[in-house]
Formats: sequence, structure tokens, C-alpha cells
Amino acid sequence: MDLTKLRKDFPTLREEDAPAYLDNACVTLKPDSVISTIHDYYSKTPGCGGRSVHRYGSKISQATGQARSKLQNFLGAETQKEIVFTRNATHSLNQVAHGLPWEKGDIVLTTDREHNSNLVPWLQLEQEQQIDHRVVASNPDNSFDLEAFELACANAGSKLKLVSMSHVGNLDGVHIPIKEVGKIAHDYGALICVDGAQSTPHMDVNVKELDIDFLAFSIHKMCGPSGMGGLWGRYDLLDGLRTIQSGGQTVQSSTYDSIDWAKPPARFEGGLGNFSGMMATGAAIEYLSKIDMNAVQEHEIRLNTIMTDGIKDLPGIEIIGPLDARKRGGICSILMGDIPVHDIALLLDEAAGVMVRSGQHCVHSWFHNRGHNNGSLRASAYLYNTEEEARLFAETFSEAVHAFS
Ligand SMILES: Cc1ncc(COP(=O)(O)O)c(C=O)c1O
Repeated sequence: MDLTKLRKDFPTLREEDAPAYLDNACVTLKPDSVISTIHDYYSKTPGCGGRSVHRYGSKISQATGQARSKLQNFLGAETQKEIVFTRNATHSLNQVAHGLPWEKGDIVLTTDREHNSNLVPWLQLEQEQQIDHRVVASNPDNSFDLEAFELACANAGSKLKLVSMSHVGNLDGVHIPIKEVGKIAHDYGALICVDGAQSTPHMDVNVKELDIDFLAFSIHKMCGPSGMGGLWGRYDLLDGLRTIQSGGQTVQSSTYDSIDWAKPPARFEGGLGNFSGMMATGAAIEYLSKIDMNAVQEHEIRLNTIMTDGIKDLPGIEIIGPLDARKRGGICSILMGDIPVHDIALLLDEAAGVMVRSGQHCVHSWFHNRGHNNGSLRASAYLYNTEEEARLFAETFSEAVHAFS
């Protein structure tokens, strides 16, 4: 990757006082092509796709179809009909959770370190439809415990209906061996839903190769626009899924007393779409498709190694997850005892333009369970970050910790 060239594509990075933006696990920066696509939609073709046949309508239908097909290729999907545009990964996970048919006592397995978006929908189903949500405990270093998972599957037996797990955790960057997990789930007759919000932007994710059933992802974490996410599902499964938003676009036809549902993906895209978002998704995926995703992964690990080595021996702090940065992708998430994480995050930005996230990162359950109510400070790298930025983070963070200790 030619970082100097690549960074010129991002307006925020061209600014003289460009930040060291290390909050990429939350949302990423956007390249020119994405921004100009949004601008072009509103300034040149601000119409409605999929319905109106005039020039605006046909241009939008064509562009959104192209965006879907770019995503199909990016994820290795069988057909573009398997790609559903959603508002975000949360929407995608909710579509799976509330779209599958449940029977009382059906078991869903997650891990003990899921984002709320892959926890709360299952808790809600537990309360409302009496499914049985079970949590597989991680190893003490937060890595995935395959044995505990196999035991949980064996204990669930034929009641096991779904395994829903984050491919890469936003808490700590820890990676789950999804292919193995999926195979075991399938052996028990269960489906596997992958929360790919933190994997799809950062590594090569191929749904066929992984042999999974559903993949939820966030376009806004992939250089794309906010308000956009995606759901990939095996077509036969999507075809059997109930939509969580019915209305315009979701039917082929209707009478006063009957519904003729549309086929996927239209059935899940009720109401007027976020057309500028869909078109800009195409631009974002085109941008990422020109970059080797394995190189992105290696690059982020290199940056994380610099961050980790630079801070790991500081007094009173602890990195969440294995110390080896290779096992945490681009995420360095740090427990800081009583040192106020939000103050440190503010200081990093004010003193050195280093932008990180502080708090519980929507993984409240993990923090509460372990009594780390102060949360953590999380630096997360992406393809445009440099080694200098990683060093700047380590230096400024170290100074801040010393100042507060
Ligand atoms: C692992 C994980 N899952 C789900 C989500 C929710 O994603 P979205 O904001 O696109 O709904 C996030 C967002 O940070 C995440 O990191």
C-alpha cells in the first residue's frame, strides 16, 4: 500500500492539522470518491430508484444495482440478490433475529464479549418469545474458547438453532475462528450468523469460503457513508425470512386482504431507500476493492505492534485481550484502573490531535461482569494510518498516564 498516495484521497487527512485518527472501530474517514458520489446524487439525480422510469430513476436503479454487485464480488457472494442494504450492522442483526421463526426454548449461542447489537436482540427475544440465549465464556485472555463452545453446543443439542458471534470483537480486536465455529454449528443443525462489523473492513472476508449463513456489516466502518450497513444471507435463508419492516418496496403486489411478498433483497428494504448512501456504498467498495485486504490486515497489525510495545509496560494499565498484537488486529483497548478514560481521550486530542474512543464501546456486559466500570481507552487503526501516528499515540498516551498517576 502506498500510504502517501492513499492518504491524499481523504480530505480530512489533507488538512494541515490532520488528526491522528485512531477511532476507526467506531467509524472511518471517507475518501473523495464517496463524498462526491453523495454530492452528485443530490445535485444531479435526486430521484427515486427502483420505481420511477424517468432518467433520474433509471440512473439510480442502475447505480444501486452496481453497488450491490460490487458488494457481491467483495464478499464472494453467489448473487447480488443475497445483498440487502440496511441502515447499519445493528439493523442487519435485528433483521436476522426478528426474521427467523422461533419456538419457545430454541437456543442461541453468543460469546461473553459481544457488542450490544449482537446481544440485546437475543435478550429481547428471550423476554418476548422465550428463546434461550446462552453465552460462551472466553478464555481468561479473552481469546475464543473452542472447547467451551463445543461443550455449549453439546449441552444445547437439538435445541441449538443459531450461533451468532462477532468475527472480530470491537472490545479488543480478538478474532474468532468462524470457519471452525460455523462447521460445528452446522454439525448440530444450527445456523451461523456472523457479526462482521469489525472484520469486513479490515481483512479478506469471503462468505462462501467461511461457509456461513448470515453476515452483518457496517458500511460506515468501510470508508462508506453513515446510515449504511449491509446484510448478506444465503439466498434460500433470506427467502424464508420475515421482514421486520413491511410496506412499499417489500411486496410484488397486494390486495385489500392479501400480500404477495417481494423476493429478497427488496422484501427487506421497505420504504424509500437511502439512495445517496447506496450509491456511495458502491464508491466505498470500489475503493476498497482496489486494495489488498490481506495487506490492510498486516498493516494494522504492524501499527498495533508499535502501539502495544510503546505502552504495555506503563504502570496501572492493562491491554484487553492477548498481549500479542497479531491476535488483536488493529485494536489496542486499554484498561486504566481509576484514571478517567474520557479525560485522557480529550487530552490526547487537545495535546496531539490523537483521536481515540473512551468508554465501554457498547460492550457494557463485559465491563460490568468484570467490574471495570471505568471502561477502556481504545485506539483502532485503519488502512490510512501511519507508523508515525502509532508512535505519536504511544508517546502521548504514555505522557498522559504518567501525568495522571
Ligand atoms: C462488533 C460490532 N458489532 C456491531 C456494531 C454495530 O454496528 P452499527 O453501528 O453499524 O450498527 C459495531 C459497531 O461498533 C461493532 O463494532
